[in-house]
Amino acid sequence: ERQDVRPYNRQRLLVVANRLPVSAVRRGEDSWSLEISAGGLVTALLGVKEFEAKWIGWAGVNVPDEVGQKALTKALAEKRCIPVFLDEDIVHQYYNGYCNNILWPLFHYLGLPQEDRLATTRSFQSQFAAYKKANQMFADVVNEHYEEGDVVWCHDYHLMFLPKCLKEYNSEMKVGWFLHTPFPSSEIHRTLPSRTELLRSVLAADLVGFHTYDYARHFVSACTRILGLEGTPEGVEDQGRLTRVAAFPIGIDSLRFIRALEVREVQEHIKDLKERFAGRKVMLGVDRLDMIKGIPQKLLAFEKFLEENPQWRDKVVLLQIAVPTRTDVPEYQKLTSQVHEIVGRINGRFGTLTAVPIHHLDRSLDFYKLCALYAVTDIALVTSLRDGMNLVSYEFVACQDAKKGVLILSEFAGAAQSLGAGAILVNPWNITEVAASIGQALNMSADEREKRHRHNFLHVTTHTAQEWAETFVSELNDTVVEAQLRTSK
Ligand code: ADP
Ligand code: G6P
Repeated sequence: ERQDVRPYNRQRLLVVANRLPVSAVRRGEDSWSLEISAGGLVTALLGVKEFEAKWIGWAGVNVPDEVGQKALTKALAEKRCIPVFLDEDIVHQYYNGYCNNILWPLFHYLGLPQEDRLATTRSFQSQFAAYKKANQMFADVVNEHYEEGDVVWCHDYHLMFLPKCLKEYNSEMKVGWFLHTPFPSSEIHRTLPSRTELLRSVLAADLVGFHTYDYARHFVSACTRILGLEGTPEGVEDQGRLTRVAAFPIGIDSLRFIRALEVREVQEHIKDLKERFAGRKVMLGVDRLDMIKGIPQKLLAFEKFLEENPQWRDKVVLLQIAVPTRTDVPEYQKLTSQVHEIVGRINGRFGTLTAVPIHHLDRSLDFYKLCALYAVTDIALVTSLRDGMNLVSYEFVACQDAKKGVLILSEFAGAAQSLGAGAILVNPWNITEVAASIGQALNMSADEREKRHRHNFLHVTTHTAQEWAETFVSELNDTVVEAQLRTSK
């Protein structure tokens, strides 16, 4: 009866996400080079291997000319990627505007932007129109490449309108949607002018997934309170049609990190770093330079720790690696200056002629250097104000089997639910508490560190990206099969 549920390795998947796993850089009229994109969504999806997957998404550049589009399409095909070309105006209104200035902050409890609240509704409406138009363009490309038997897996807040567009093309298509951010309390979601349309569109999917049970519960509450639909333990019901809603906590490809530590190049980096920071405890932050990551709060907590613990001043160093992101959005530009100002002040206050307490890099690190940094770190500081999951915390744990360092983790990151027992959990808004947790981590006994690390390492190595994807896709298959069985009775 379940013949159409294929073994995973033969299951054909169309993965649709705004961001492709590779971003394109133009080298000439018809030549392109491809670089791995940054961010949790890409990291997780790169860890998914056992499917026959094709990726559909935006290559991150404006390509107005046909020659460029053809050449890029060809280059991307080698990576099993299919581009959606978005022009500059759409990118501005859809990606910078509606996605990253409205939905992203709202879903992370930072509220709607003031300007849009006060201004005429024109800008909000035109951004939402561009959002819908962009989603329709993604749907057109999916429809063009869809073959019977494909499972279509849509990702993230950029594509909430996509499930509806796809079902309008073909109601038989198996459509899943997964959100990589928190889904906020229904009281937050209800402030969004387009709240109803977005919820209805997501409900067109057969399966809707979130990182945690809480986010799934918030979504179901939004559907019951805002749309007046019925929430059941299975999901949301609308006139006899069930949309299955569930939690699927994401993971990483932990073996990739563990194996990397054995590579000679990584071992050399490790040796260099150990020499460079000999006699000092290394604290590490790795984040996209984003408001939700709580970077200013982290720096202020570190400053407080140095203020209160003069004996540690020349014995700790904080390495903060912050890759710039969404640099056309004004909020992100403001954050960059704010972070630079705080780093400058703290280094001015506590630096000496030979050493500074904070090394701040505004850039991405290549994979081997990142693994080496994770491996030599004594304390990782993840202080997100809100975070869907936070895979940096997982990556750190995967690289710490020798050192057994301490993870200080925000209780507002999804990861607090999986790594909470091994980490020191903190409220990132409470600078005093975070400063105290640094002291606690520095003074923690080796036994205690070992015990905490064991817990986290076991979780990170058993809850992988591959397992996450298999569970989601298998559930998506079952959901559709059940729906078909019901209608055929
Ligand atoms: P988000 O999805 O919000 O970016 P995550 O912590 O889930 O947050 O994932 C971030 C991913 O991006 C991780 O895989 C991390 O290694 C990578 N990353 C973040 N900052 C940097 C950086 N400065 N250099 C290299 N990789 C980075
Ligand atoms: C988060 C989002 C992803 C996004 C990533 C990087 O992880 O959930 O959808 O791809 O940030 O952001 P960017 O805007 O550069 O794609």
